Amino acid sequence: METIPYSRQWIDEEDLQAVCQVLRSDWLTQGPTVESFENGLSEAAGVARAVAVSNGTAALHLCYAGMGVKNGSTGITSPITFAATANALLHCGAEVRFCDVDPATGLMEPDSLEQTIKEQKPAGEEVHLVIPVSFAGRLAPLEEIAQISEAHGFSVVEDAAHSMGAFAKRNEHTLRSASCEHEKASILSFHPVKHICSGEGGAVLTNDEKLADKIVSLRSHGVKRPISNDERAGWYYEQTDLGWNYRMTDLQAALGLRQLKKLDSFLERRRSLADRYHKALKEEPFNEFLEVPAAEEGHAYHLFVILFRNPAHRDQAYEFLQEQGIRSQVHYIPVYRHPYYASLMGNMRLPGAESYFSRCLSIPLFPKLTDAEQEKVLEQLAAFLRAL
Ligand SMILES: Cc1ncc(COP(=O)(O)O)c(C=O)c1O
Repeated sequence: METIPYSRQWIDEEDLQAVCQVLRSDWLTQGPTVESFENGLSEAAGVARAVAVSNGTAALHLCYAGMGVKNGSTGITSPITFAATANALLHCGAEVRFCDVDPATGLMEPDSLEQTIKEQKPAGEEVHLVIPVSFAGRLAPLEEIAQISEAHGFSVVEDAAHSMGAFAKRNEHTLRSASCEHEKASILSFHPVKHICSGEGGAVLTNDEKLADKIVSLRSHGVKRPISNDERAGWYYEQTDLGWNYRMTDLQAALGLRQLKKLDSFLERRRSLADRYHKALKEEPFNEFLEVPAAEEGHAYHLFVILFRNPAHRDQAYEFLQEQGIRSQVHYIPVYRHPYYASLMGNMRLPGAESYFSRCLSIPLFPKLTDAEQEKVLEQLAAFLRAL
């Protein structure tokens, strides 16, 4: 029996050729193809600068470090995310706080964010950074969070690892994910389950030239080369910061650049599959047992999440589908529940995040999923629910 994964990449012959072409060239590490990929990314997002790096986690780390997050800083994110969003704060020596999410969507709740900020004040703790996650491909409440940031003076980074190509219509205006309209920066991931893939890969996007230059330096050990009219010898370079080797290779960038050209068609296919799911799941027997987060025109559908009205059914459904050769996944275990975080912050529980976590299951959604495979997912899910 062929297994249907919950997500996977789609690599075609032209992708293979693009990577082989780099293998035959002089540049394997960061070179001209990384620069072309960066130009493509900044153009696609409509931002001044894109800095491509080795993965999305490195993008978060460099972004926070480049913004001056350090020992004594505090960052707030939501717990319904991959741990990397919070881990990168810890890597900078900062404190992590979690605010709650909307139990219907898993997105950061602005009221809970404000409450969490107020709770820090008696301890004298200033909040320096807030990282909303445009989870599953739905835009986080970026405008509301920007308004709160004006009152409290923190910076905002959008974790857009799930939301390449997402947008939301606001009256006359279209707000785009990763456009940095309200944020200092945003980050992307090009892991194989994401909208476009480069093997591993990530990027920081920003309109702040100084921040981008800093991240470029930190990506490569904090080393700077003299500017072209500098009179020192051509071999001269100096380390002015403590950075890392988080460079992307030209091999990764060649794949990423080719995939970027297919972003629109990938998004179209994701949205059409999601539409099919939405229509089917409104009907019997699904509607009796499931709640499905509302459809939204600009949703980029990195994940298709269903919520079980009865949490006990979620794990049973996971097992049943697995036996039928259908992989599903739970996105996410709230980050504070991981033993590492529990050892730092004790037994934290946030009601919205707990409700979401106990009921959520991501069912297969990726551009290469065939109509027949999607039909099988629906049939098997229906078979499971009918037997309850
Ligand atoms: C929301 C979110 N942020 C950040 C990351 C980190 O990206 P990467 O796996 O490319 O390091 C991920 C990866 O799954 C993610 O889902």
